[in-house]
Amino acid sequence: MALYSEKVMDHFRNPRNVGVIEDANGIGEVGNAKCGDIMKMYLKIEDDIIKDVKFETFGCGSAIASSSMATEMIKGQPVAEAEKLTNKAVAEALDGLPDYKMHCSVLAEEAIKSALEDYRKRSENKTEN
Ligand code: FES
Repeated sequence: MALYSEKVMDHFRNPRNVGVIEDANGIGEVGNAKCGDIMKMYLKIEDDIIKDVKFETFGCGSAIASSSMATEMIKGQPVAEAEKLTNKAVAEALDGLPDYKMHCSVLAEEAIKSALEDYRKRSENKTEN
């Protein structure tokens, strides 16, 4: 059996939503201390809907495939739905990851959660001022 599913290979070779959103209103950056991989997520949210999402991942193939798939899964979704995204759901959507690569999908979940948290903080600041 191949180590990686075709979906993983496809998202690794042709990652969707790579890049930066200049006027993002939610940005999250996370890293894994063990492997040293880093993932940065940019969200453009309007009326609580994720209008656009882009990512930059300096990491392994599974991390790139996970971030690509995760961005596809939350694009166009309400913030509340994106908050529910789990690394398991990302790995399942990729038709699975080897056990020792599951932490790569955790990075995608954490990057999105961190960007959503940043978005919340910014919106709170706005209402205070
Ligand atoms: Fe570190 Fe994949 S090996 S994220």
